[in-house]
Amino acid sequence: MPRVLVVGGGGREHALLHAFARSPRNPELLCAPGNAGTAALAENIPVAADDIDGLLRLAEDRAVDMVVVGPEVSLVEGLADRLDELGIAVVGPSAAAARLEGSKAFAKAFMERHGVPTAASRTFGLDEVKEAHAYVAEQPLPVVLKADGLAAGKGVIIAETREAAVEGLMSLFDGAFGKAGARVVVEEFMRGEEASVFVLTDGRGCALLAPAQDHKRIGEGDTGPNTGGMGAYAPAPLVTPEVMTEVEERIIQPVLKGMAEEGHPYRGILYVGLMITAEGPKVVEFNCRFGDPETQVVLPLLESDLLDLFEALVEGRIGEADVRIRDGAAACVVLASAGYPGSYEKGKEIAGLEAAADRATVFHAGTKREDGRILTNGGRVLGVTGLGADLQEALDNAYAGADAISFHGKTLRRDIGQKGLVWLSPA
Ligand code: AMP
Ligand code: GLY
Repeated sequence: MPRVLVVGGGGREHALLHAFARSPRNPELLCAPGNAGTAALAENIPVAADDIDGLLRLAEDRAVDMVVVGPEVSLVEGLADRLDELGIAVVGPSAAAARLEGSKAFAKAFMERHGVPTAASRTFGLDEVKEAHAYVAEQPLPVVLKADGLAAGKGVIIAETREAAVEGLMSLFDGAFGKAGARVVVEEFMRGEEASVFVLTDGRGCALLAPAQDHKRIGEGDTGPNTGGMGAYAPAPLVTPEVMTEVEERIIQPVLKGMAEEGHPYRGILYVGLMITAEGPKVVEFNCRFGDPETQVVLPLLESDLLDLFEALVEGRIGEADVRIRDGAAACVVLASAGYPGSYEKGKEIAGLEAAADRATVFHAGTKREDGRILTNGGRVLGVTGLGADLQEALDNAYAGADAISFHGKTLRRDIGQKGLVWLSPA
């Protein structure tokens, strides 16, 4: 019986475990550190997702066959390389390959070298602050400023005015984002709609999952500050089969080929964040891992055995794998704590989880179990995923599940998937 360790403790990791638990091969599942939801499917082990030494020890001690890494931080810092040295199979790229997420300057230069469509940009180092200001002053508004390194989604400034651009540039260079701001990428603002495509790749071949759309802002109608994601649905109808073919040919193939040619083949999950513009799909960002909450809609639509697919990936035969996606749609509504993405309280008792399960699958994100009760323990608390023959039915199920759950301060968006419905409706 294969033994699989999932690293992380959010909704994404619960969805990964949920997919593994459906495998007829009945894998033994471990999760580090996990949450109250993962505990029902896996043995939770209190090792933090960024504790590389702790994770290596755990994988060795427990003779784990495969490690699947949810969050990016440890991958950027070399967890996959270290597991590789120990001969433990890992779904996740080497540190060199994870630079596609870990360094926006690297990703932009790489895309330029390989002709991958993305926003035009220039990168400036700390010794080029004057040049950066001169360049930004000449750009049309809005202009996009990004810290080079990992900044937990907070290193992007979309400046609508000259003043905001100057201020933004100063704050990035002044280390508002620590080391991440030592270089700043100045980028053209792209107009269009965003979607994400998840690529399972062994460095040569690849398999694609259903395209998804996230809802990053806290407020309905895409207003207010950015969050980790307040909901998602799949498939995203704006990514038509024609757009998907274009993404494969103009983005995914050149990226995989380019990474291999440059000596650091990309193995693992590649998250391609896209802007579907009037000129076709362009890359907004890469992530070196699955998206959250997107995983909570993409994996429930996967009919193939995830364990088989990941084995094919680590054994270098993902190109021949049989990827079956079920018909219909999935929608996930995130229930957050009041105040998120700013400060929020924890420890509120959650009720209604069983009733919600009649209509939906409830993935835990920030939860913990205490004295037999399930308590909130993070900003994003739960992801409630509904399935259906079409997007409307999936949304009805997701919201029925979401409405059955209660906790003090429960916060959700009521418009998840509305954009998808608009695309689907006859013009
Ligand atoms: P990133 O961390 O690079 O994904 O950026 C965070 C968010 O900022 C993206 O999901 C987009 O909504 C927005 N964004 C980033 N870059 C651009 C761009 N060049 N044009 C328009 N929006 C952007
Ligand atoms: N939902 C966005 C992300 O996972 O980066």
